[in-house]
Amino acid sequence: MKVLGIDIGGSGIKGAIVNTENGELLTEKHRIPTPRPATPELMSETVRELVDFFDWKGVIGCSFPAVILDGKCMSAGNISDEWIGTQVDELFENACENTKFHVGNDADLAGVAEMRLGAGKGLNGKVIMITIGTGIGSGMFYNAELIPNTELGHVLKDGKSIEKYAADSARERENLSLKKWAKRFNFFLNYMDRVLVPNHYILGGGISKYFDDFEKYLSSNASIKVAQFRNNAGIIGAAMFAQDAINKQQH
Ligand code: BGC
Repeated sequence: MKVLGIDIGGSGIKGAIVNTENGELLTEKHRIPTPRPATPELMSETVRELVDFFDWKGVIGCSFPAVILDGKCMSAGNISDEWIGTQVDELFENACENTKFHVGNDADLAGVAEMRLGAGKGLNGKVIMITIGTGIGSGMFYNAELIPNTELGHVLKDGKSIEKYAADSARERENLSLKKWAKRFNFFLNYMDRVLVPNHYILGGGISKYFDDFEKYLSSNASIKVAQFRNNAGIIGAAMFAQDAINKQQH
């Protein structure tokens, strides 16, 4: 089936039409900068622009950078507080005629793509997808089944969310060397090792392209793999998530 996958991020809103059977992008990716401030009103206009660009009607999968419970936004780590309590699927459906939105957390959905078709394919036990960017996102899987909304970037370090200390944005903000940043990130991994004892980690987000350079600073009993989809995981995972929701409704 063809589904429009949309990935909402802090700097850009990207979309492409995806073949949900094999994760293939059937169109070029189209990107529109995230409006500022990224309020529900302005963002829904941008989403409409993207949907219009593809002239799309029907099912849309959408990954969103916050806790999403049954389509409703429940947190605002790196987005406007106005989102809290917003029924995101309905907001976007009202902005885009003849569409049906299925919305989920960005790291959860990036994990869906990786588990099914990427670095997580065939992995059993406990797998944690970690996206490293402005924040730290997490998607946890047990025997390939998603346990949604884990929010591991918000465990506390010195009274603040650990993502403020170990995300890629901390490296940029504090001008850290790759080694200094990697040691911070390893602190986060070791924390997760102690409390969650996963079998595997999959690391994604822009910085993961330097994995070969920072892998040597990481230590864990779990295996550490690098995401395969890089920038497309959000789009592909969102489309697959929408397809799964439809399949569930039909059974
Ligand atoms: C949010 C998560 C999100 C992550 C990556 C965090 O601040 O709380 O929901 O997955 O950033 O975007």
